[in-house]
Amino acid sequence: MKRLLVVGCGFPQLSLVRAARRLGLHVVGADMNPRAIAAGLCDEFREVSTGDVEGLSALVARERFDALTTTGSEVALRAVADVAARAGLPFHADPDTVRRCQDKDAMRAAYAAGGVAVPPFARCTSPGEARAFASRAGFPLVVKPSRGWGQRGVARGEDDAELGVAFEEARAHSAAAGLPLVVVEAWLEGREYSVNGWIEDGRLASYCVTERITVPGRRPLGIMVAEVYPSGLSAADEARVVDEARRGAAALGHTRGPCYSQVALGERGCFLFETAARLGGGFDADVTRLASGVDLYDRVLGVALGDRDLERQGAVAGAHGGAIAKFLVARPGPVRAVRGLDEAGALAGVDDAQVFVPVGGRVLPLTDSAKRAAYALAHGAARAEAAARADAALSTIVIDTSEGIPAEAT
Ligand SMILES: Nc1ncnc2c1ncn2[C@@H]1O[C@H](COP(=O)(O)OP(=O)(O)O)[C@@H](O)[C@H]1O
Ligand SMILES: [Mg+2]
Repeated sequence: MKRLLVVGCGFPQLSLVRAARRLGLHVVGADMNPRAIAAGLCDEFREVSTGDVEGLSALVARERFDALTTTGSEVALRAVADVAARAGLPFHADPDTVRRCQDKDAMRAAYAAGGVAVPPFARCTSPGEARAFASRAGFPLVVKPSRGWGQRGVARGEDDAELGVAFEEARAHSAAAGLPLVVVEAWLEGREYSVNGWIEDGRLASYCVTERITVPGRRPLGIMVAEVYPSGLSAADEARVVDEARRGAAALGHTRGPCYSQVALGERGCFLFETAARLGGGFDADVTRLASGVDLYDRVLGVALGDRDLERQGAVAGAHGGAIAKFLVARPGPVRAVRGLDEAGALAGVDDAQVFVPVGGRVLPLTDSAKRAAYALAHGAARAEAAARADAALSTIVIDTSEGIPAEAT
Protein backbone atom coordinates (compact mmCIF):
# COMPACT_ATOMS: atom_id res chain seq x y z
CA MET A 1 0.00 0.00 0.00
CA LYS A 2 1.32 3.45 -0.91
CA ARG A 3 2.19 5.77 1.96
CA LEU A 4 1.19 9.40 1.51
CA LEU A 5 2.16 12.31 3.74
CA VAL A 6 -0.48 15.05 3.82
CA VAL A 7 0.83 18.28 5.29
CA GLY A 8 -1.91 20.00 7.26
CA CYS A 9 -4.96 18.38 8.83
CA GLY A 10 -7.21 21.41 9.12
CA PHE A 11 -10.43 22.05 7.23
CA PRO A 12 -8.52 23.15 4.08
CA GLN A 13 -7.08 19.62 3.83
CA LEU A 14 -10.14 17.68 5.00
CA SER A 15 -11.40 16.72 1.54
CA LEU A 16 -7.90 15.86 0.34
CA VAL A 17 -7.46 13.41 3.21
CA ARG A 18 -10.86 11.91 2.44
CA ALA A 19 -9.97 11.58 -1.26
CA ALA A 20 -6.68 9.88 -0.39
CA ARG A 21 -8.46 7.41 1.85
CA ARG A 22 -11.00 6.76 -0.90
CA LEU A 23 -8.14 5.93 -3.27
CA GLY A 24 -6.87 3.37 -0.78
CA LEU A 25 -3.70 5.21 0.20
CA HIS A 26 -2.12 4.86 3.63
CA VAL A 27 -2.40 8.45 4.86
CA VAL A 28 -0.02 9.98 7.37
CA GLY A 29 -1.16 13.45 8.42
CA ALA A 30 1.11 16.15 9.85
CA ASP A 31 -0.12 19.15 11.80
CA MET A 32 0.81 21.00 14.97
CA ASN A 33 -2.69 20.41 16.27
CA PRO A 34 -3.57 16.78 17.05
CA ARG A 35 -7.22 17.82 17.39
CA ALA A 36 -7.36 19.28 13.88
CA ILE A 37 -10.48 18.17 12.05
CA ALA A 38 -8.80 15.80 9.58
CA ALA A 39 -6.24 14.33 12.01
CA GLY A 40 -8.59 11.58 13.13
CA LEU A 41 -9.28 10.51 9.53
CA CYS A 42 -5.63 9.80 8.82
CA ASP A 43 -4.19 6.32 9.31
CA GLU A 44 -1.36 7.85 11.30
CA PHE A 45 -0.64 11.29 12.67
CA ARG A 46 2.62 13.19 13.23
CA GLU A 47 2.72 16.31 15.34
CA VAL A 48 4.76 18.56 13.04
CA SER A 49 3.73 22.09 12.11
CA THR A 50 2.70 22.70 8.50
CA GLY A 51 5.31 25.45 8.15
CA ASP A 52 8.19 23.49 9.70
CA VAL A 53 10.33 22.65 6.68
CA GLU A 54 13.12 21.15 8.78
CA GLY A 55 10.74 19.02 10.81
CA LEU A 56 8.91 17.82 7.72
CA SER A 57 12.15 17.10 5.88
CA ALA A 58 13.37 15.08 8.85
CA LEU A 59 10.10 13.15 8.84
CA VAL A 60 10.46 12.39 5.13
CA ALA A 61 14.07 11.32 5.65
CA ARG A 62 13.16 9.09 8.60
CA GLU A 63 10.11 7.31 7.20
CA ARG A 64 9.36 5.88 3.81
CA PHE A 65 6.82 7.90 1.83
CA ASP A 66 5.79 7.29 -1.76
CA ALA A 67 4.30 10.75 -2.04
CA LEU A 68 3.63 13.97 -0.19
CA THR A 69 1.23 16.77 -0.88
CA THR A 70 -1.09 19.39 0.53
CA THR A 71 -3.76 21.82 -0.50
CA GLY A 72 -5.68 24.86 0.64
CA SER A 73 -3.01 26.56 2.72
CA GLU A 74 -0.20 28.86 1.62
CA VAL A 75 1.94 27.92 4.62
CA ALA A 76 1.66 24.21 3.86
CA LEU A 77 2.11 24.84 0.13
CA ARG A 78 5.37 26.68 0.64
CA ALA A 79 6.69 23.99 2.97
CA VAL A 80 5.69 21.10 0.72
CA ALA A 81 7.27 22.73 -2.33
CA ASP A 82 10.54 23.03 -0.38
CA VAL A 83 10.42 19.55 1.15
CA ALA A 84 9.46 17.88 -2.14
CA ALA A 85 12.26 19.65 -3.99
CA ARG A 86 14.81 18.51 -1.38
CA ALA A 87 13.51 14.95 -1.28
CA GLY A 88 13.10 14.63 -5.04
CA LEU A 89 9.41 13.79 -4.73
CA PRO A 90 6.95 15.01 -7.36
CA PHE A 91 4.95 18.17 -6.67
CA HIS A 92 3.08 20.45 -9.03
CA ALA A 93 5.12 23.59 -8.36
CA ASP A 94 8.73 24.39 -7.52
CA PRO A 95 9.65 26.71 -4.63
CA ASP A 96 10.28 29.74 -6.86
CA THR A 97 6.90 29.49 -8.56
CA VAL A 98 5.21 29.15 -5.19
CA ARG A 99 7.04 32.23 -3.91
CA ARG A 100 5.97 34.30 -6.92
CA CYS A 101 2.38 33.22 -6.29
CA GLN A 102 2.60 34.21 -2.63
CA ASP A 103 4.51 37.41 -1.95
CA LYS A 104 2.06 40.08 -3.01
CA ASP A 105 4.64 42.61 -4.13
CA ALA A 106 6.33 40.00 -6.36
CA MET A 107 2.94 38.85 -7.61
CA ARG A 108 1.82 42.37 -8.53
CA ALA A 109 5.16 43.05 -10.21
CA ALA A 110 4.96 39.83 -12.24
CA TYR A 111 1.40 40.61 -13.31
CA ALA A 112 2.47 44.07 -14.44
CA ALA A 113 5.51 42.71 -16.26
CA GLY A 114 3.27 40.17 -18.00
CA GLY A 115 0.85 42.85 -19.17
CA VAL A 116 -1.88 41.90 -16.70
CA ALA A 117 -3.89 44.82 -15.31
CA VAL A 118 -3.03 45.73 -11.72
CA PRO A 119 -4.51 48.48 -9.57
CA PRO A 120 -2.18 51.35 -8.64
CA PHE A 121 -0.08 49.91 -5.80
CA ALA A 122 3.05 50.58 -3.78
CA ARG A 123 5.39 48.33 -1.84
CA CYS A 124 6.06 50.15 1.42
CA THR A 125 8.59 49.61 4.17
CA SER A 126 7.47 52.60 6.26
CA PRO A 127 4.22 54.36 7.16
CA GLY A 128 5.63 57.45 5.43
CA GLU A 129 5.83 55.61 2.11
CA ALA A 130 2.26 54.43 2.59
CA ARG A 131 1.09 58.00 3.30
CA ALA A 132 2.96 59.31 0.27
CA PHE A 133 1.20 56.73 -1.91
CA ALA A 134 -2.14 57.68 -0.34
CA SER A 135 -1.62 61.32 -1.17
CA ARG A 136 -1.07 60.36 -4.83
CA ALA A 137 -3.72 57.64 -5.16
CA GLY A 138 -6.38 58.87 -2.70
CA PHE A 139 -8.62 56.89 -0.36
CA PRO A 140 -10.07 54.31 0.13
CA LEU A 141 -7.03 52.08 0.00
CA VAL A 142 -6.34 48.45 0.83
CA VAL A 143 -3.38 47.52 3.01
CA LYS A 144 -1.98 43.99 3.08
CA PRO A 145 1.03 42.11 4.35
CA SER A 146 3.28 41.43 1.41
CA ARG A 147 3.67 37.90 2.72
CA GLY A 148 0.27 37.01 4.07
CA TRP A 149 -2.67 34.73 3.49
CA GLY A 150 -6.15 34.00 4.70
CA GLN A 151 -6.83 37.73 4.99
CA ARG A 152 -4.56 38.15 8.04
CA GLY A 153 -3.82 41.85 8.29
CA VAL A 154 -5.77 42.82 5.16
CA ALA A 155 -7.75 46.02 5.78
CA ARG A 156 -9.47 48.86 4.00
CA GLY A 157 -8.37 52.31 5.11
CA GLU A 158 -10.41 55.48 4.67
CA ASP A 159 -7.92 58.04 5.96
CA ASP A 160 -4.37 58.57 7.22
CA ALA A 161 -5.22 57.42 10.74
CA GLU A 162 -6.68 54.11 9.55
CA LEU A 163 -3.81 53.70 7.12
CA GLY A 164 -1.32 54.03 9.98
CA VAL A 165 -3.02 51.39 12.12
CA ALA A 166 -3.47 49.02 9.18
CA PHE A 167 0.14 49.52 8.09
CA GLU A 168 1.56 48.45 11.45
CA GLU A 169 -0.68 45.42 11.62
CA ALA A 170 0.12 44.33 8.08
CA ARG A 171 3.84 44.84 8.58
CA ALA A 172 3.78 42.77 11.77
CA HIS A 173 2.11 39.87 9.94
CA SER A 174 4.48 40.03 7.00
CA ALA A 175 7.56 40.41 9.22
CA ALA A 176 6.50 37.33 11.20
CA ALA A 177 6.57 35.45 7.89
CA GLY A 178 10.05 36.78 7.12
CA LEU A 179 9.30 39.76 4.86
CA PRO A 180 8.74 43.12 6.64
CA LEU A 181 6.96 44.69 3.68
CA VAL A 182 3.47 46.05 3.10
CA VAL A 183 1.50 46.41 -0.11
CA VAL A 184 -0.88 49.34 -0.34
CA GLU A 185 -3.21 49.44 -3.32
CA ALA A 186 -6.21 51.21 -4.74
CA TRP A 187 -9.65 49.98 -3.75
CA LEU A 188 -11.20 47.82 -6.46
CA GLU A 189 -14.93 48.25 -6.99
CA GLY A 190 -17.05 45.32 -8.03
CA ARG A 191 -17.99 41.80 -7.15
CA GLU A 192 -15.52 39.05 -6.55
CA TYR A 193 -15.23 35.71 -8.31
CA SER A 194 -13.12 32.62 -7.80
CA VAL A 195 -11.82 30.61 -10.73
CA ASN A 196 -11.24 26.98 -9.81
CA GLY A 197 -8.78 25.99 -12.45
CA TRP A 198 -6.27 23.36 -13.42
CA ILE A 199 -3.29 24.06 -15.62
CA GLU A 200 -3.03 21.47 -18.36
CA ASP A 201 -0.15 21.58 -20.82
CA GLY A 202 0.65 25.06 -19.54
CA ARG A 203 -2.86 26.44 -20.11
CA LEU A 204 -5.42 27.06 -17.41
CA ALA A 205 -8.74 25.25 -17.81
CA SER A 206 -11.59 26.45 -15.59
CA TYR A 207 -13.80 23.83 -13.96
CA CYS A 208 -16.00 26.16 -11.97
CA VAL A 209 -16.38 29.89 -11.46
CA THR A 210 -18.04 30.88 -8.21
CA GLU A 211 -19.14 34.17 -6.77
CA ARG A 212 -17.11 34.79 -3.63
CA ILE A 213 -19.28 36.31 -0.93
CA THR A 214 -17.38 37.92 1.94
CA VAL A 215 -18.29 38.89 5.48
CA PRO A 216 -19.04 42.59 5.94
CA GLY A 217 -16.33 44.73 7.50
CA ARG A 218 -13.13 46.53 6.61
CA ARG A 219 -10.66 45.07 9.10
CA PRO A 220 -10.14 42.26 8.40
CA LEU A 221 -11.33 42.67 4.86
CA GLY A 222 -12.56 40.00 2.52
CA ILE A 223 -13.04 36.85 4.61
CA MET A 224 -15.08 34.47 2.52
CA VAL A 225 -18.40 33.32 3.89
CA ALA A 226 -19.63 31.53 0.76
CA GLU A 227 -18.53 30.36 -2.67
CA VAL A 228 -21.59 30.02 -4.85
CA TYR A 229 -22.12 28.37 -8.22
CA PRO A 230 -23.15 29.45 -10.76
CA SER A 231 -21.43 32.79 -10.52
CA GLY A 232 -24.38 34.80 -11.78
CA LEU A 233 -22.21 36.31 -14.54
CA SER A 234 -23.15 36.30 -18.20
CA ALA A 235 -21.20 33.80 -20.29
CA ALA A 236 -19.20 36.66 -21.79
CA ASP A 237 -18.27 38.17 -18.42
CA GLU A 238 -17.40 34.76 -17.02
CA ALA A 239 -15.11 34.20 -19.98
CA ARG A 240 -13.39 37.54 -19.21
CA VAL A 241 -12.87 36.50 -15.61
CA VAL A 242 -11.41 33.14 -16.64
CA ASP A 243 -9.20 34.79 -19.21
CA GLU A 244 -7.82 37.16 -16.60
CA ALA A 245 -7.07 34.22 -14.31
CA ARG A 246 -5.35 32.47 -17.22
CA ARG A 247 -3.21 35.50 -18.03
CA GLY A 248 -2.31 35.93 -14.37
CA ALA A 249 -1.12 32.34 -14.02
CA ALA A 250 0.91 32.67 -17.20
CA ALA A 251 2.51 35.92 -15.99
CA LEU A 252 3.54 34.15 -12.79
CA GLY A 253 5.00 31.19 -14.63
CA HIS A 254 2.62 28.79 -12.92
CA THR A 255 2.46 26.01 -15.48
CA ARG A 256 1.04 22.89 -13.88
CA GLY A 257 -1.77 21.73 -11.69
CA PRO A 258 -4.12 23.48 -9.30
CA CYS A 259 -4.72 27.19 -9.77
CA TYR A 260 -7.15 29.18 -7.68
CA SER A 261 -7.67 32.78 -8.73
CA GLN A 262 -9.64 35.58 -7.14
CA VAL A 263 -10.87 38.19 -9.58
CA ALA A 264 -12.78 41.45 -9.11
CA LEU A 265 -15.12 42.49 -11.89
CA GLY A 266 -16.47 46.01 -11.82
CA GLU A 267 -17.00 49.14 -13.88
CA ARG A 268 -13.28 49.48 -14.53
CA GLY A 269 -12.95 45.92 -15.76
CA CYS A 270 -11.29 42.78 -14.42
CA PHE A 271 -8.56 42.80 -11.81
CA LEU A 272 -6.87 39.87 -10.13
CA PHE A 273 -6.60 39.98 -6.37
CA GLU A 274 -4.32 37.00 -6.52
CA THR A 275 -3.36 33.67 -8.06
CA ALA A 276 -2.71 30.70 -5.81
CA ALA A 277 -0.75 27.64 -6.93
CA ARG A 278 -3.12 25.36 -5.05
CA LEU A 279 -6.79 24.60 -4.65
CA GLY A 280 -8.92 27.03 -2.66
CA GLY A 281 -8.90 26.59 1.10
CA GLY A 282 -12.62 26.96 1.64
CA PHE A 283 -14.01 23.75 0.13
CA ASP A 284 -13.81 25.39 -3.29
CA ALA A 285 -12.85 22.14 -4.99
CA ASP A 286 -15.85 20.47 -3.35
CA VAL A 287 -18.12 23.05 -4.96
CA THR A 288 -16.22 22.47 -8.21
CA ARG A 289 -16.89 18.74 -8.00
CA LEU A 290 -20.60 19.35 -7.47
CA ALA A 291 -20.67 21.83 -10.36
CA SER A 292 -18.58 19.89 -12.87
CA GLY A 293 -18.17 16.32 -11.64
CA VAL A 294 -14.37 16.76 -11.78
CA ASP A 295 -12.51 15.95 -8.58
CA LEU A 296 -9.50 18.24 -8.29
CA TYR A 297 -8.39 16.59 -5.04
CA ASP A 298 -7.92 13.35 -6.96
CA ARG A 299 -5.86 15.26 -9.49
CA VAL A 300 -3.65 16.74 -6.75
CA LEU A 301 -3.03 13.18 -5.59
CA GLY A 302 -2.33 12.17 -9.18
CA VAL A 303 0.51 14.69 -9.36
CA ALA A 304 1.96 13.57 -6.01
CA LEU A 305 1.82 9.90 -7.01
CA GLY A 306 3.29 10.53 -10.45
CA ASP A 307 0.08 9.11 -11.94
CA ARG A 308 -0.57 11.01 -15.19
CA ASP A 309 -4.00 9.45 -15.72
CA LEU A 310 -5.21 10.51 -12.29
CA GLU A 311 -3.71 13.97 -12.84
CA ARG A 312 -5.85 14.34 -15.95
CA GLN A 313 -8.91 12.46 -14.72
CA GLY A 314 -12.22 13.68 -16.14
CA ALA A 315 -15.63 13.81 -14.51
CA VAL A 316 -16.25 11.16 -11.86
CA ALA A 317 -19.71 12.36 -10.81
CA GLY A 318 -22.73 14.11 -12.24
CA ALA A 319 -22.94 17.90 -12.45
CA HIS A 320 -25.54 19.94 -10.57
CA GLY A 321 -27.14 23.23 -11.59
CA GLY A 322 -26.25 24.88 -8.28
CA ALA A 323 -23.68 24.34 -5.54
CA ILE A 324 -22.36 26.20 -2.53
CA ALA A 325 -19.92 26.00 0.36
CA LYS A 326 -21.00 28.31 3.15
CA PHE A 327 -19.36 29.02 6.49
CA LEU A 328 -21.01 29.70 9.80
CA VAL A 329 -19.95 32.84 11.61
CA ALA A 330 -20.07 31.64 15.20
CA ARG A 331 -19.93 33.62 18.41
CA PRO A 332 -16.42 33.55 19.90
CA GLY A 333 -15.90 31.68 23.16
CA PRO A 334 -15.12 28.25 24.58
CA VAL A 335 -17.12 25.51 22.88
CA ARG A 336 -19.37 23.86 25.48
CA ALA A 337 -21.46 21.77 23.14
CA VAL A 338 -22.20 21.20 19.47
CA ARG A 339 -25.71 20.25 18.46
CA GLY A 340 -27.54 19.49 15.25
CA LEU A 341 -24.55 18.49 13.16
CA ASP A 342 -25.86 15.07 12.15
CA GLU A 343 -29.30 16.51 11.45
CA ALA A 344 -27.76 19.21 9.28
CA GLY A 345 -25.74 16.70 7.29
CA ALA A 346 -28.82 14.55 6.71
CA LEU A 347 -30.91 17.34 5.15
CA ALA A 348 -31.87 16.98 1.48
CA GLY A 349 -29.16 18.22 -0.86
CA VAL A 350 -26.62 18.73 1.91
CA ASP A 351 -23.38 16.96 0.98
CA ASP A 352 -21.36 17.73 4.07
CA ALA A 353 -21.56 19.67 7.31
CA GLN A 354 -18.68 20.07 9.74
CA VAL A 355 -17.80 21.93 12.90
CA PHE A 356 -14.03 22.45 13.00
CA VAL A 357 -13.66 23.39 16.66
CA PRO A 358 -14.13 20.50 19.08
CA VAL A 359 -15.97 20.73 22.39
CA GLY A 360 -13.41 22.10 24.83
CA GLY A 361 -11.80 24.14 22.08
CA ARG A 362 -12.41 27.82 21.46
CA VAL A 363 -14.12 29.74 18.69
CA LEU A 364 -11.82 32.70 18.09
CA PRO A 365 -12.85 36.13 16.81
CA LEU A 366 -12.91 36.13 13.00
CA THR A 367 -9.60 37.90 12.40
CA ASP A 368 -8.69 35.65 9.46
CA SER A 369 -10.14 32.82 7.42
CA ALA A 370 -8.59 30.06 9.54
CA LYS A 371 -10.84 31.13 12.44
CA ARG A 372 -14.00 30.01 10.66
CA ALA A 373 -15.71 27.42 12.83
CA ALA A 374 -18.18 25.42 10.74
CA TYR A 375 -19.48 24.98 7.22
CA ALA A 376 -22.03 23.26 5.02
CA LEU A 377 -21.72 22.03 1.45
CA ALA A 378 -24.88 21.72 -0.62
CA HIS A 379 -26.15 21.31 -4.15
CA GLY A 380 -29.43 21.95 -5.93
CA ALA A 381 -31.03 22.28 -9.31
CA ALA A 382 -30.05 25.94 -9.30
CA ARG A 383 -28.05 28.40 -7.20
CA ALA A 384 -31.00 29.51 -5.07
CA GLU A 385 -31.91 25.97 -4.10
CA ALA A 386 -28.33 25.09 -3.16
CA ALA A 387 -28.04 28.29 -1.11
CA ALA A 388 -31.31 27.66 0.73
CA ARG A 389 -30.16 24.14 1.59
CA ALA A 390 -26.85 25.37 2.97
CA ASP A 391 -28.68 27.98 5.04
CA ALA A 392 -31.03 25.34 6.39
CA ALA A 393 -28.04 23.19 7.38
CA LEU A 394 -26.19 26.06 9.04
CA SER A 395 -29.23 27.15 10.99
CA THR A 396 -29.56 23.58 12.30
CA ILE A 397 -26.03 23.64 13.74
CA VAL A 398 -25.61 25.10 17.20
CA ILE A 399 -22.13 25.83 18.52
CA ASP A 400 -22.73 26.66 22.14
CA THR A 401 -20.14 29.18 23.26
CA SER A 402 -22.12 30.77 26.06
CA GLU A 403 -19.47 32.10 28.44
CA GLY A 404 -19.74 31.62 32.16
CA ILE A 405 -22.72 29.28 32.13
CA PRO A 406 -22.04 25.69 33.18
CA ALA A 407 -22.46 23.36 30.20
CA GLU A 408 -25.12 21.30 32.03
CA ALA A 409 -27.29 24.37 32.53
CA THR A 410 -27.42 25.35 28.87
N1 LIG B 1 -7.68 46.28 -3.78
C1 LIG B 1 -8.75 45.73 -3.24
N2 LIG B 1 -9.98 46.29 -3.38
C2 LIG B 1 -11.07 45.73 -2.82
N3 LIG B 1 -11.05 44.59 -2.09
C3 LIG B 1 -9.86 43.98 -1.91
C4 LIG B 1 -8.64 44.52 -2.48
N4 LIG B 1 -7.64 43.69 -2.13
C5 LIG B 1 -8.17 42.71 -1.40
N5 LIG B 1 -9.50 42.84 -1.28
C6 LIG B 1 -10.41 41.94 -0.55
O1 LIG B 1 -9.66 41.29 0.46
C7 LIG B 1 -9.56 39.88 0.18
C8 LIG B 1 -8.18 39.37 0.59
O2 LIG B 1 -7.17 39.98 -0.20
P1 LIG B 1 -5.97 39.14 -0.79
O3 LIG B 1 -5.06 40.06 -1.48
O4 LIG B 1 -6.52 38.01 -1.56
O5 LIG B 1 -5.25 38.62 0.55
P2 LIG B 1 -5.11 37.14 1.14
O6 LIG B 1 -3.96 36.54 0.43
O7 LIG B 1 -4.86 37.33 2.59
O8 LIG B 1 -6.38 36.40 0.83
C9 LIG B 1 -9.86 39.76 -1.30
O9 LIG B 1 -10.32 38.46 -1.60
C10 LIG B 1 -10.92 40.82 -1.47
O10 LIG B 1 -12.17 40.39 -0.96
MG1 LIG C 1 -6.88 35.98 -1.08
